[in-house]
Amino acid sequence: MTPVPVAVLVSGGGTNLQALLDALRDSAVARVVRVVATGAGTGALERARRAGVPTIALKDPADPAEIVTAVGDARLVVLAGYVKHIPPAAVARLRWRAINIHPALLPAFGGPGMYGRRVHAAVLASGAALSGATVHYVDEEYDRGPIIAQWPVPVRPDDSPDTLAARVLEVEHRLLPQVVVELARLGVPEKPVRLAAMGSAFVVADQPSVRFGDEA
Ligand code: GRF
Repeated sequence: MTPVPVAVLVSGGGTNLQALLDALRDSAVARVVRVVATGAGTGALERARRAGVPTIALKDPADPAEIVTAVGDARLVVLAGYVKHIPPAAVARLRWRAINIHPALLPAFGGPGMYGRRVHAAVLASGAALSGATVHYVDEEYDRGPIIAQWPVPVRPDDSPDTLAARVLEVEHRLLPQVVVELARLGVPEKPVRLAAMGSAFVVADQPSVRFGDEA
């Protein structure tokens, strides 16, 4: 099987991109073939260069033709910390092939302006006991496309936006590659799919970090 070519769109530091590069480096199922960025100097571009993956800096992220061209022959497009709006004409061309990761349990704590620290501050202000990571399809509205997979994370009583962000990010780095691999295995279906974790494990809500089921 030829690995499904994946394009990753980034605007920031690119730790989710790094998780994808690491997870897919030797994968027969999916491979990062290009990284598309909104700014020339992002940490994400440096990560791509280190991994030997071609990079493209978008001149005008509002231009649908430029985005579609930049994505090229990638079958799956992953927004990993990409903060710009994807113009509707590009969404239409990439329907059910473009996914985004969001650092909260959508549909709560999403939408325009809800990114970075603000998301976690809003979760803490709400008093929610759970946050988490969501991977969803990109559609015309920010953070509103159909949900593919979610992974919950406990909110600790003494959390700050930064400690909560770090705990959610750890989960994002597990969830995103798993979803990409699963969608690739399924042949990037032309209709939305929803993935659910098989099995679960209790964790003590005030323990400092998340333990994963496959760890001793
Ligand atoms: C992540 O929290 C992601 O969910 C959000 O932006 C952040 C990007 O972090 N969309 P990084 O650039 O992958 O480190």
